[in-house]
Amino acid sequence: MHARVVALTAAAVLATAALLSPTSDARAGDVGKPTVVAHRGASAYAPENTLASIDKAARLGFSWVENDVQRTKDGELVVIHDDSLQRTTNVKQLFPGRAPWKVKDFTAAEIARLDAGSWYSPAYAGTRVPTLKQYMRRIEHNHEKLLLEIKNPQLYPGIEQQTLKLLGNQGWLDQSHLRRLMVQSFSADSIRTVHELRPAITTAYLGMPTVAQLHTYARFTDLVNPSYASLSKGYVSAVHAFDGPHGRPLGVFAWTVNDVAGARRVAGYGVDGIITNKPDVVRTALGSD
Ligand code: G3P
Ligand code: CA
Repeated sequence: MHARVVALTAAAVLATAALLSPTSDARAGDVGKPTVVAHRGASAYAPENTLASIDKAARLGFSWVENDVQRTKDGELVVIHDDSLQRTTNVKQLFPGRAPWKVKDFTAAEIARLDAGSWYSPAYAGTRVPTLKQYMRRIEHNHEKLLLEIKNPQLYPGIEQQTLKLLGNQGWLDQSHLRRLMVQSFSADSIRTVHELRPAITTAYLGMPTVAQLHTYARFTDLVNPSYASLSKGYVSAVHAFDGPHGRPLGVFAWTVNDVAGARRVAGYGVDGIITNKPDVVRTALGSD
């Protein structure tokens, strides 16, 4: 009887701690096995940053997806990687006189007319650049989890506040959704802003601060996500030695790892996550099939 009371009390304490300090499922992932994140959706198999790419990730059995948010001329948040529409849409054909075809120079209605699938394959003709609202609805429908990158924030003043407002309106800032959400950026200022606006959100800095700088980053970011090319076991250990803003060791998600050898190498370094265009390849490399 006593043991049962102790167990129940311990469970209650843990539940309370979880409520007081939410962290993402990725940060609380399987011990010893990195979380696999489908980069720009399953972008090796479907056009990046489209609803088709996150559907593909879901069909492959992956719940975590990474995507990029930017803003149109008339203030709509859209999911796209480059600051120009040129590479991943037919904008040159539809708007030949509008070079260099920057996202910020086109309205949402104009972008909605673009084909964001044909450049990848005729099979995806007619695929659209999703708005962030459309995208969040599909993520929810697919029961997926989101690593959202605020891309080029210097081009879009206030995009952090606007993004958080949309996430809140879509119901993504409650306790259960916060466990399925991480926000990252190459801009430390942007990540600091997200942390200050909504301290409960799990944040990630894209880059590789020096070890001497890590204590400063640990005030506002939960993860340090570097390119895997320059990563080392020593650096991962150094990052893990710092506690982040939620009192847990800083995490490391390496990107963009698309082959077996690379996945095994960074897993051996002890990374917490692997961001990949080929999540199935990484899963096989980690022996998770
Ligand atoms: O998630 C890491 C990765 O997305 C950063 O690089 O250029 O693909 O946004 P990029
Ligand atoms: Ca990205």
